[in-house]
Amino acid sequence: MYERVSAVLGARPEDVKHSEIRQRQEDLCGHLAEDSVCIIVNNPSSIRSRDVHHRHRFNSYLHYLTGWHEEGGAAIFYHKSEHWVCKLYVNPRDIKMETWNGRRPGLEGALSNWPVDETSSLDDIEEDLGEILAKAESLHHIGGLDSEIDKIVNSKFSKYSDPRKIIDEMRVIKSNSEVELMQYAADLASHAHVEAMRLCKPGMGEWHMQSIIEGCFLHHKSHWAYPSIVGCADNATILHYNENKDVMNDGELVLIDAGCEIDGYASDITRTFPVNGVFTEDQKAIYELVLKSQIAGIEACQVGSPWSAMHRATSEILAQGLIDLGILDCSFEEALGENLDGAFRQFFMHGTGHFLGLDVHDVGGGRQGDNESERTLLPGMVVTIEPGLYFGAWRDDISIDARWAGIGIRIEDDILVTENGPVVLTAACPKSIDEIESIVGSA
Ligand code: GLY
Ligand code: MN
Ligand code: MN
Repeated sequence: MYERVSAVLGARPEDVKHSEIRQRQEDLCGHLAEDSVCIIVNNPSSIRSRDVHHRHRFNSYLHYLTGWHEEGGAAIFYHKSEHWVCKLYVNPRDIKMETWNGRRPGLEGALSNWPVDETSSLDDIEEDLGEILAKAESLHHIGGLDSEIDKIVNSKFSKYSDPRKIIDEMRVIKSNSEVELMQYAADLASHAHVEAMRLCKPGMGEWHMQSIIEGCFLHHKSHWAYPSIVGCADNATILHYNENKDVMNDGELVLIDAGCEIDGYASDITRTFPVNGVFTEDQKAIYELVLKSQIAGIEACQVGSPWSAMHRATSEILAQGLIDLGILDCSFEEALGENLDGAFRQFFMHGTGHFLGLDVHDVGGGRQGDNESERTLLPGMVVTIEPGLYFGAWRDDISIDARWAGIGIRIEDDILVTENGPVVLTAACPKSIDEIESIVGSA
């Protein structure tokens, strides 16, 4: 399985180069007043049980601006002798601590191996900040979720602004090297989904699908970008289901929403397929409708289109399709609603997609359909397109014919917006009915 995936994956791209990170620092500082200071604090580590920690995930802003991926740390940008300085505060070397918790680059290691101008120990940050902030007129600060550093900052500066607005505008347009990393993450996740399809058989557990996909990620030195969702039958109609604990039975559909990270950049793919490899006529009817709507959503990813275009495109197809299938008994206007809030929302209750990047729900906008963002699509943006229809048999707030009960279908791809039209980064993950039926259970 792992070798099959390795054989079709291209070469893994290098992490974002230091020169590109230096350019990001210059771009950020170009927006700051010379008498201001900008502080970005890493995410804290969090406890899972007693002295066992969750795997640490770096703060995306800190990583974007310094490449830092270790635990602890904070970056401070300040102006000194006519230049902007990026100073990284890190955990100092400590053989005792490292023996238990792993190696630390320390001050010298951080200075030689990361694109920063100065390093210092986190132990000194309180004193240093006192001196640096005493000379500052204004402060920009991204906190670390109640970190000690936030408390120090709060005690020294009463008011600060949020620099995320500036950095988000930078992050929302992906560079070529970011796109290469995202393409690789999309390819790895696509091939992992194919392996799950190939190996799927009735009687297997949802957790088996999860282990195949996440095993492929791990084998290729990657890991999930968000907890994998594997839901068969009614479980597929619960949007954030991730217990992945049920056995998949003959005749059911299974929905898998799983993606991975490469140098922090996420992929995000959903596929839905029959556990036994053959769609029933009713499953096929809903699948074809969701697929038609998803393709229309992808087509709407055009330079210059408003943020609302994708959600409108998917919604119109779904609303009409639900009427054509007899699931909604109303006019198209009633099905769609004046603000895309009509009767179809009983069965498609989430947005059409979101920006994708260092965060799976990346910066720059909310969910398509969930907010009023006036953003226009530009080359270099990456979005997901992920319409779905969900007919939970367990729901007592909807009335549907028994033939549809227990069907939950979502199809999700990652799309790069370009001057030449949308590029589907996840094109290696099949989604036509013929392809799916020929792959599922074929191992
Ligand atoms: N996997 C999270 C999402 O699709 O938005
Ligand atoms: Mn998504
Ligand atoms: Mn997803």
